[in-house]
Amino acid sequence: MRRKLVAGNWKMNGSLAANAALVAGIKEGLAAQACDVAVCVPAPYLAQVQALVAGSPVVLGAQDMSAHASGAYTGEVSASMLQEFGVQYVILGHSERRAYHGESDAAVAAKTVAALKAGLVPLVCVGETLEQREAGQTNAVVGGQLDVVLAALSVEEAARIVVAYEPVWAIGTGKTATPEMAQEVHAMLRARVGAKSAEVAAKVRILYGGSMKPDNAQQLLAMGDIDGGLIGGAALKAPDFLAIIDAAA
Ligand code: 13P
Repeated sequence: MRRKLVAGNWKMNGSLAANAALVAGIKEGLAAQACDVAVCVPAPYLAQVQALVAGSPVVLGAQDMSAHASGAYTGEVSASMLQEFGVQYVILGHSERRAYHGESDAAVAAKTVAALKAGLVPLVCVGETLEQREAGQTNAVVGGQLDVVLAALSVEEAARIVVAYEPVWAIGTGKTATPEMAQEVHAMLRARVGAKSAEVAAKVRILYGGSMKPDNAQQLLAMGDIDGGLIGGAALKAPDFLAIIDAAA
């Protein structure tokens, strides 16, 4: 049985005051939950949120990192810097980074390798656009994105990643994949991992992301290959985030 993970992706949202209120609300409402919980926060707030979640079941995540260890990469943040602030998870290859920052599959693979080497758990995001889905290319696109990452990893490394399926057309649009649509893609992704190692495929967690809300989380999370959620908008409201965590438990 894979333990579910509910991770909030705050994206470029927050302030010192808003973060404090949000984390307080999450901590207050957390029961002895039976799933893992993470918040992936903007880099400047890592130290603040590290202190806010200390001693609670909520773990800290980042939203991106450099593939490089250090040096002349202005604006970038390294895996070892994230580690110094207690970061455990790092989102890599989010569709917003692929679209607005030109991140290629190869760049995502290099970042994944660097994260694993530093002992971080990469949340590797894959997803198709509406045009790609309508052209019947979903499996080729999404499977292909994951294959490039898997090709860069040993079996032991592949066992330490988390995959997030985030259909681009469902992100921030209020349009969610139906549980059946998501399950179909998740099963395909698990099979891609299975081509590398059946043992890893049975254990790897595959999260769904894209307009997951309290009112659809339970149905999505009930599907056999959906092992949690990567939550955008609903992760910014403590009651909504808590309701999704409850649905996963
Ligand atoms: P929304 O939940 O706002 O659709 O965002 C999903 C997402 O991109 C999480 O990484």
